Amino acid sequence: MIDVAIHPLGDHVDTIPSIAEWFYQEWREIYGKETLASVRQRIETWVPQDRIPTALVAVAGNQVIGTVALKNSELHFPYSPWLAGLFVIPKLRQQGIGALLVGAAERKAASLGIGRLYLYTPSSQAFYEKLGWSVWEHSQLPSGPLSVMSKRLLSPVEDQTAR
Ligand SMILES: CC(C)(COP(=O)(O)OP(=O)(O)OC[C@H]1O[C@@H](n2cnc3c(N)ncnc32)[C@H](O)[C@@H]1OP(=O)(O)O)[C@@H](O)C(=O)NCCC(=O)NCCS
Repeated sequence: MIDVAIHPLGDHVDTIPSIAEWFYQEWREIYGKETLASVRQRIETWVPQDRIPTALVAVAGNQVIGTVALKNSELHFPYSPWLAGLFVIPKLRQQGIGALLVGAAERKAASLGIGRLYLYTPSSQAFYEKLGWSVWEHSQLPSGPLSVMSKRLLSPVEDQTAR
């Protein structure tokens, strides 16, 4: 793998317009009527590092090449919090950077006292299963079927959010 570092999004705020364009192209169907500007505004709320929502970026040289976010809510689902916004630029995929970002987001969530994380994916279930995630439920959106997946990060004793 090329040399990749994981940084807070807050260290690279100048890249937010490019990240918004990546997301808008990748998830346009899921976003529905959302505009590029509103996607960019949402990403701007991920800059603080001491709470959720927040985000991390993968950096090679001085270039941001991938992202991952932690969010409080997703769509209509009653679970929280969520791993979301996982994206690696196409030319650097299949080199372990996505797995690196997921691991970094899991550690960030655990450091915030999060015991269990959720995500949803239309097509990358096998990718997350390799990283220890399992299917929580299957669901259906206008854009197609998806899997909600979950991973326990802390034991129930350590989990400050356990009910
Ligand atoms: C999904 C994504 C983040 C994966 O990033 P990546 O850097 O290519 O992933 P990695 O190289 O870390 O892959 C880790 C492992 O998962 C496998 N893998 C990667 N993408 C996969 C996929 N879509 N389905 C199944 N397995 C996958 C890799 O082959 C690798 O397996 P190995 O450890 O046995 O070699 C990237 O393809 C992407 O940005 N896609 C577009 C956005 C997206 O779909 N995000 C996820 C939405 S929920």
